[in-house]
Amino acid sequence: MHARVVAVTATAVLGSVALLPPVHDVRAGVAVRPLVIAHRGASAYAPENTLQAVDKAASMGVAWVENDVQRTRDGRLVVIHDDTLRRTTDAERVFPGRAPWKVKDFTAAEIARLDAGSWFGAAYKGTRVPTLEAYVDRVEHNHQKLLLEIKNPELYPGIERQTLKLLGDEGWLDRRHLTNRLVVQSFSAAGLRTVHELKPGVRTGLLGTPAARDLRRYAGYADLINPSHTALTPAYVDAVHALTGPHGTPMRVFAWTVDDAATARTVARYGVDGVITDKADVVRRALYWY
Ligand code: G3P
Ligand code: CA
Repeated sequence: MHARVVAVTATAVLGSVALLPPVHDVRAGVAVRPLVIAHRGASAYAPENTLQAVDKAASMGVAWVENDVQRTRDGRLVVIHDDTLRRTTDAERVFPGRAPWKVKDFTAAEIARLDAGSWFGAAYKGTRVPTLEAYVDRVEHNHQKLLLEIKNPELYPGIERQTLKLLGDEGWLDRRHLTNRLVVQSFSAAGLRTVHELKPGVRTGLLGTPAARDLRRYAGYADLINPSHTALTPAYVDAVHALTGPHGTPMRVFAWTVDDAATARTVARYGVDGVITDKADVVRRALYWY
């Protein structure tokens, strides 16, 4: 008989049994069924970081979506990955004299004119770069959960406070969201520490793979360490799990970006708590057999 048990306590990472409980293999002593998080939304199937990518994830039954937040010239928060508009919009065509098309050099009204879907496929022509406000409203409408990445905070002074203000205004900093539906992550340790200091109740994740000997210094303000799967080892996962995060629970690991079944099973064997993927269906099938 295969010795698998549902380890409800493992959900303590985000403080709620409403999360899909990981399943632990008692013999191996590791989590073999981590959370599945749709990277930039269901970005293999709809243009990344758009409302369509959020809806696609919802239609696939994926609760968690990840996004990237940056800021326009006139101070609006928008959801887009690159610090330029070139790859995922038609900015070069619409604004030919505005190279290098940095997000921070365009107003929200200018960005709202851009097509953020045609690059992905003709069916998505007319898709827009969402404001963060519209984005969180859609995630809420879909009853989903958000792994929000503050991108390039060094380019946008004060973006941590501004993001938290917007989240609060939109109802995302109440107890229900804080314990169960929101994690803020960044590659910037300084930015993440600022988030923690401004709103200590927010769960936070540090992107990257800091040296194991340095992990302790992040435990004061990061609940998770989220590394590329290419940099991951079982020993590293164990080293993170051995530490207690700012909310009194073991630090956790979400690995990115895992788009094939074999790698999903490998990182699950390592004991990661979440798998961030463009192909949630592939990862879910690999880990959950449906
Ligand atoms: O969530 C992890 C991942 O999003 C970090 O890399 O470049 O896709 O934002 P990137
Ligand atoms: Ca990201």
